[in-house]
Amino acid sequence: MSSRSFVVGITGASGAAYAPRLLELLGSSGAEIHLIITPWGRRLLKDELGMSSLDLDVLTRGHADRVRMHNDKDVGAAPGSGSFRHDGMVILPCSANTLGRIASGMTENLIQRAAACALKERRRLILCHRETPLSLIEIENMATVTRSGGIIAPLNPGFYLAPSGISDLIDYMVARILDLLDVPHSLDTNWGDHVDAVSRDASPDSKQTESSQ
Ligand SMILES: Cc1cc2nc3c(=O)[nH]c(=O)nc-3n(C[C@H](O)[C@H](O)[C@H](O)COP(=O)(O)O)c2cc1C
Repeated sequence: MSSRSFVVGITGASGAAYAPRLLELLGSSGAEIHLIITPWGRRLLKDELGMSSLDLDVLTRGHADRVRMHNDKDVGAAPGSGSFRHDGMVILPCSANTLGRIASGMTENLIQRAAACALKERRRLILCHRETPLSLIEIENMATVTRSGGIIAPLNPGFYLAPSGISDLIDYMVARILDLLDVPHSLDTNWGDHVDAVSRDASPDSKQTESSQ
């Protein structure tokens, strides 16, 4: 079991369904999770997943024992200090508002403060931004965070693994986030595992062979 710890922030962007899957897989890896949710993050959990009250066991799919919940208003909580050591922070989903706050350095809640600490302490910070299209303001905010050492991982799942439904698209994104955190997982999303079969079926040579038969 892992003895690693991660900070997970949920903000008020669409894509709430990604968060329970990430929490489930981080929890099953044995990691300790420091969870922070903004009021708009809670609103989206309600609107998109029907979670009108916060039940950590439901949200983490049975891994509530791995979670320490922090109040987003309490910038004095542990993740709000640079001396709080952890193995990475993910904001999933990350709103344009939270991205902009982090890029400006003007933090006003615990998620933003914890993200600022991750950047100044050179810890891994992953912002899973969701909005489309993008204004130049958002693009420049992304560039600022990237120059400061953060990783922008927009929520835009690939379709090349032939997803059979929304859960496959969610797994695609969550696998990429776990890869960025160096957390092992068994999600079947590695192109290397698919590429041989796909290229064999799709290669012009195989078509020529078929048509010449
Ligand atoms: C139903 C709904 C969907 C939203 N979707 C998005 C979104 O996809 N991306 C985004 O940046 N903001 C979205 N917003 C707006 C944010 O919730 C709003 O900017 C809020 O201030 C974000 O606050 P937070 O970053 O503290 O969570 C949405 C709001 C609502 C009510």
